[in-house]
Amino acid sequence: MSFVLVRVGAAVLYEAGRGYNDDLVILKSFALSQTQSYPAWRSRWVFILAATGSAVGLGNIWKFPYITGENGGGAFVLVYLLCILLLGIPVMVAEVMLGRRGCQSPVNAMRQLTRDAGLHGFWNSIGWLGVVAGLIILSYYSVIAGWALAYIPEMGKGTFQGAGPLESQIFFDALLADKERLLGWQSLFMVLTVGVVACGVVKGLGVAVRILMPLLFLLLLAMLVFAYRQGDFAGAAEFLFRFDFSALTGRSVLEALGHSFFTLSLGMGAIMAYGAYMPATASIGKTVVTVALLDTLVALMAGMAIFPIVFAHSGINPAAGPELLFVSLPVAFGAMPGGLALGMVFFILVSIAAWSSAISLIEPAVAWLIESRGFNRFSANILLGFVAWALGFGTILSFNDWAGLTLGGFTFFGAMDFLTSRILLPLTGLFIAIFVGWIMPQLAVKDELNGNNSLIYPFWLWVLRYICPPAIGVVLLVGLYDTFAPVG
Ligand code: TRP
Repeated sequence: MSFVLVRVGAAVLYEAGRGYNDDLVILKSFALSQTQSYPAWRSRWVFILAATGSAVGLGNIWKFPYITGENGGGAFVLVYLLCILLLGIPVMVAEVMLGRRGCQSPVNAMRQLTRDAGLHGFWNSIGWLGVVAGLIILSYYSVIAGWALAYIPEMGKGTFQGAGPLESQIFFDALLADKERLLGWQSLFMVLTVGVVACGVVKGLGVAVRILMPLLFLLLLAMLVFAYRQGDFAGAAEFLFRFDFSALTGRSVLEALGHSFFTLSLGMGAIMAYGAYMPATASIGKTVVTVALLDTLVALMAGMAIFPIVFAHSGINPAAGPELLFVSLPVAFGAMPGGLALGMVFFILVSIAAWSSAISLIEPAVAWLIESRGFNRFSANILLGFVAWALGFGTILSFNDWAGLTLGGFTFFGAMDFLTSRILLPLTGLFIAIFVGWIMPQLAVKDELNGNNSLIYPFWLWVLRYICPPAIGVVLLVGLYDTFAPVG
């Protein structure tokens, strides 16, 4: 695969020809001097695949089904869809736009955009917070992805053949209690992740997502067919799509909101970093809508693959929580004809989805070390992979030795999860919405989004200005309140 070296230059010529006002041209030409050789993906489809690879992950296959189960199904799904539409998509457009405009790693892109517009250096924190959040998320994400890896051979060996819920629980508890095993699988996952990123954006990322994403879709389709034939498909559809608002609480709404950020990989610079590689001519709006639709489709497909199996077996609780995937589902697999092979396929699928997401968690930090600290891609990866891997010990130990050790009611893992999904991601998302909606020169925003003749542009800007900040602000405030309010 080749890459295009001249896209920023072309953008400047295009801009000069249109005779825009000075600050805009300076903004672009400054970017040109910095980023002469920044690679761009050949087509917007590679961006779509990469961004979808980032978005589709444990958040869709593990987290979405279990939080939907915990929050009573249908009404939660509806709120989640609204959050994707009203918050996720507008913020994602803003984030991709920042990335393409800044055309560097998120840290330097923000530095550039703020400096050029004469804004306060405070806004650089959008880049910094992202790098920190990415490494923290990767530290626990790799542990949970390690569970999925661990289940692949277990399914193959027939561990769950005819197992009841109790045996399945015992197996899962034994896995969590075994530090060395957890560490082994987490390390394997980390090596896979670092391996792809070390091969570079074009060769590693581009090729990986081209193969992985279609494969993932095929596997999910196969699961759906199986669930349709063997499971309680109608029951699952009723659970997911019958909107029973009595089950909905204020907390569910907040959870849906937080999850819409997590599932679209927003608020961390991942999407910004990928935006930097997006061809200048591609429409950001259309591309983002495609990614969000694919992500939502995968979450719903995962739900329709998992719940029919859960409902076909009495005694499995749809509200089992994080264990739904690892305790309840294997029981169902073990009880159905052909279930073990399917189970193996399923956990391979989960691992692949997690893998292509993990890549995006580390890429912003890697890009920054290369640009600003003179690292090469390989050494940057090794260093960052090592940091996330070491921080992951905390999560591993929080399931065994440190299980009783809590801070404000959180285990180490709980604290990391909460710190990122309820504090850091919304915080950065809030900054992005305010920065793009209110602070950044509107001419630059409009130009990058080709908003001159667009009907949707004014609507997008309105939502970004008036809906996103207060809504995200509430999530953040309640998150902070939950952290510091006295427990109980
Ligand atoms: N979106 C991924 C998932 O649903 C996780 C993820 C990847 C992520 N990159 C991210 C979450 C950046 C937040 C920020 O599993």
